[in-house]
Amino acid sequence: MLIVQAYSLPEFTTLLRAGVTRAGRDMFAQGSVMGIVAREQLAHLTDGEIASIHTYLQTGWTAERAAREEAKIATFPPPTFMKP
Ligand code: HEM
Repeated sequence: MLIVQAYSLPEFTTLLRAGVTRAGRDMFAQGSVMGIVAREQLAHLTDGEIASIHTYLQTGWTAERAAREEAKIATFPPPTFMKP
């Protein structure tokens, strides 16, 4: 259903710590914000935290849950940079 649900735990760990996809694409080398966030921030997550996020995305992140989150976004105030 989702790209992330194809990730095994070892692949997911590499994704979050190094910003390298399961296809071997290095998003840091490509200048993607995902690569920067992975190396600078997500790399600080513990093995246990990564495993918990992985389990959640494999089991708790359903299409129904995604639709509920999407609906919430429409109710948020506009970001400050979009105000006149
Ligand atoms: C625990 C948090 C996060 C998870 C689990 C996650 C997961 C993913 C996954 C699975 C992909 C696709 C990789 C692929 O092509 O196989 C991706 C791409 C991407 N993520 Fe994240 N992400 C996280 C946090 C973030 C944050 C905080 C940002 C932005 C500030 C971000 C921005 C992006 C962008 C822009 C891409 C596309 C990059 C590209 O294709 O070059 N992600 N992420």
